[in-house]
Amino acid sequence: SFNIKDVEAIIKERRSLPGAMLPILHGIQEKIGYIPAEVVPLIALELNLSRAEVHGVISYYHFFRQKPAGRHVVQICRAEACQANGADALVQHAKATLACDFHETTSDGEFTLEPVYCLGQCACGPAMTIGEDLYARVSNDKFNRLLSTKLA
Ligand code: FES
Repeated sequence: SFNIKDVEAIIKERRSLPGAMLPILHGIQEKIGYIPAEVVPLIALELNLSRAEVHGVISYYHFFRQKPAGRHVVQICRAEACQANGADALVQHAKATLACDFHETTSDGEFTLEPVYCLGQCACGPAMTIGEDLYARVSNDKFNRLLSTKLA
């Protein structure tokens, strides 16, 4: 659940910024962790847009979650240097192991899998994060180990 007052405060603070919708959506996701469907009419009203326009932006940018994330957000770097270091294989492994795709959450609600574009570890990819923690040179085995420590 979330507090609508938080959303109102974010909208009020950012509504006069140029291209206010993205800063507003970022602010809401930062505060609440996702963009609740209930806030769409509020944003539309404040920015003088249709609900469909607001919804269109939210679904265009996969960065914006439309549902709460799992307990741990796992982000795997999809940028070039990590690709060259085998990130594709890691992504395949992660999807198979978690039985979910990018932007999805495992059925037990533990992990949400997301792509990310560069974590500043380009020389030692593949890189990933679990929550706030950053990991480099992630092999499939290391991936399994890291995830199991989060379950412990
Ligand atoms: Fe993956 Fe920079 S390309 S960390």
